[in-house]
Amino acid sequence: MIASVASPRLMLIGGGAVAELPALLGKLGLPHPLVVTDPFMVRSGMILRATEPLQAANISFGLFSDTVSDPTDTVIEAGVAALRAAPYDCMVAFGGGSPIDTAKGMAILAAAAPGVKMRDFKVPAAADRAAVPVIAIPTTAGTGSEVTRFTVITDTERNEKMLIAGLGAVPAAAIVDWRLTLSVPARITADTGIDSLTHALEGFVSKRANPHADALALAAMALIAPNLRAVYANPNDEAAREKMMLGATQAGMAFSASSVALVHGMSRPIGAHFHVPHGLSNAMLLPAVTRFSLEAGLPRYAAAARAMGLASAEEGDQAAGARLVAELAALNRDLAVPSPRAYGIDEARWNGLLETMADQALASGSPGNNPRVPDKAEIIALYREAWEA
Ligand SMILES: [Fe+2]
Repeated sequence: MIASVASPRLMLIGGGAVAELPALLGKLGLPHPLVVTDPFMVRSGMILRATEPLQAANISFGLFSDTVSDPTDTVIEAGVAALRAAPYDCMVAFGGGSPIDTAKGMAILAAAAPGVKMRDFKVPAAADRAAVPVIAIPTTAGTGSEVTRFTVITDTERNEKMLIAGLGAVPAAAIVDWRLTLSVPARITADTGIDSLTHALEGFVSKRANPHADALALAAMALIAPNLRAVYANPNDEAAREKMMLGATQAGMAFSASSVALVHGMSRPIGAHFHVPHGLSNAMLLPAVTRFSLEAGLPRYAAAARAMGLASAEEGDQAAGARLVAELAALNRDLAVPSPRAYGIDEARWNGLLETMADQALASGSPGNNPRVPDKAEIIALYREAWEA
């Protein structure tokens, strides 16, 4: 098997790294960025962490701050118009996964011929071209989008979260500064942290796992698992924040070189139809899907449990796997993850959409990478199991 690995050309990792943005742009020869962010980053003043260094270095930049959570094809089109309004030579994407995924979508769509739509790039199509390089600066730990070859964009006509993959989605550079995560509230800290853990676990048990991705996935699980409760309980725990941030980026590198699997495949339709935040819909599914998949990938799930510090090296695979399933359920309790029912989703609408959600999950291809590949009926059964977990 040949592993396909794509990464940013340059990554700056460490507390305070965002101050190096002007120097990074200089090194890459990109003097005229369009900053892409969301309205909250502007309102809260967080964006100044990126724009003040630019101003101090006399770098003129544009600002597109109309990104939305769960980025849509219509926002991408508006973003492409903003990108074309001036001779920008790059984008600086600043924020959680949504502004970064938006900038990636803009770069891909802006490189396409007139009339081409975002949905034309949905997997299995390859989105290998980008109009301009993207410099990604995540403020959560996190989606890992700063290092992956993926972006997820909602098709507003079809109410579908589309997975888009290719070299065009790989940021040219990433600034991974854990200090930017200190102000993230507990709920978002938990949701994005579970997303990271899911990336590492799915990247590790995936049928597309490979030794390069394995090393990153195991390192990420060892960083994330012991620190997730700490950052949730105390958002100012600097040591835990630093480990979570590195873990999230390494988890992103792991699944980008391997893949995600059934949790993500089933999670995207929940996000598309019910607007549940991405990490939270993963968390709702993670225990049930892991239980479903355990026997089919037992040695890897057991190794994951050991990497997470849940089982000793001497403990057998069965015992280690059982500890993993128990821990994922306990984590959801400790991080106050609601079931879809407790989240307030309408039961009749949920039941009415199960067939559609299962079809969309299967069409994304992600379930095919799972250690146990489910059929449609099994996916529906898993949605039902998660409903009132
Ligand atoms: Fe994710």
